[in-house]
Amino acid sequence: MAFARLSVLVALALTATQTVNAALTKRVTWPLACTANPPVVVPLFPIVDQIQQDLFDGGDCGEEAHSALRLSFHDAIGFSIHGSGGGADGSILAFNETETAFHANGGIDDITARQFPVFLETGLTAGDFVHLAAAIGTANCPGAPRLEFKFGRPAPKAPAPDKTIPEPTDSVTSILARFADAGFSSDEAVALLASHTIAAADVIDPTIPGTPFDSTAGTFDTQVFLEVLLKGSLFPGNGSQSGEVLSPLHGEMRLQSDFVISQDPRTACTWQSFVNNQQKMVTEFKAAMAKLQVLGQPRNLIDCSDVVPVPKPFTSAIKFPASFSREDVQIACPQRAFPSLATVAGPAPTIPPVPGS
Ligand code: HEM
Repeated sequence: MAFARLSVLVALALTATQTVNAALTKRVTWPLACTANPPVVVPLFPIVDQIQQDLFDGGDCGEEAHSALRLSFHDAIGFSIHGSGGGADGSILAFNETETAFHANGGIDDITARQFPVFLETGLTAGDFVHLAAAIGTANCPGAPRLEFKFGRPAPKAPAPDKTIPEPTDSVTSILARFADAGFSSDEAVALLASHTIAAADVIDPTIPGTPFDSTAGTFDTQVFLEVLLKGSLFPGNGSQSGEVLSPLHGEMRLQSDFVISQDPRTACTWQSFVNNQQKMVTEFKAAMAKLQVLGQPRNLIDCSDVVPVPKPFTSAIKFPASFSREDVQIACPQRAFPSLATVAGPAPTIPPVPGS
């Protein structure tokens, strides 16, 4: 076991040293090891630098960063506490031909195709790569928590079973049951949906790729928890599509699943509790992600979270989009006070698509 781990580390060090050699001579002054105790002698910092350059345009919170986070969820959730699925094992990347064909993985082939050659160059296991890339991509978004990264996942053995990823047309009961089967409470499920603050849809309505779920898809703020509660009045593209419901803003997509979760008595108060409460949202999202990122994995992974970049903070109060106010909120948690928010000045906006979608 110890020998196997050592030979993996040596192989990783050699492979990654070769592939990042050019970058190292020019710009990298990082320490080579993750500072776990004892230290992990794998050049993770140069790999982080390589992922930033090759996948995220040097550190953007763009389409690829968003998709890397979605990929980590779709990889990990293929797991059941009752014994099936490899969880956060990178099977979605290693067995991408099988898993990208699952209905819930529509559009995910773009990011597996982008990540696969970089994954091979780094020499990491597929699970370590998928969940490191997600932590880095998320860190590029101002306001995001610095997600954990644990090192040492074994290679995946098989594709995840199909029909384990929630779909936007699913009922709240079915979504919560699936999360519970993977080990998450309903509060943790809602916290994980903070991810939709840096998200857009490509395949719900293919006529409008890159249509975001909130007005600030480049910032990890609480805006999505507010905007999903606003009265809907329009469909942003080619009429009503499966999995979407009325949206409040031109250029914005509202997922049916987000909306029903925001309104259901089992989840509405947790949903509302995140509105303009950045600290609560990032704390609970980070904690739920820490569980997600190691689902089904050995307990003795090594904490290498110090390789994850430190995100820029987001400290402003959020606002109603222009022309909206408290009167437009579909309150589903009447027992708690709704926060008092200002409104952006001017006419109702049209939200631009996320570039590169
Ligand atoms: C009820 C559970 C969920 C459902 C039904 C759901 C559904 C969806 C759908 C339909 C899309 C748009 C796909 C497309 O048209 O391109 C999407 C995007 C996204 N989802 Fe979820 N999701 C759920 C939970 C999560 C969780 C837990 C995470 C992460 C922890 C996540 C992260 C994302 C991200 C980051 C995107 C944007 C990807 C991009 O812009 O490229 N989702 N989700």
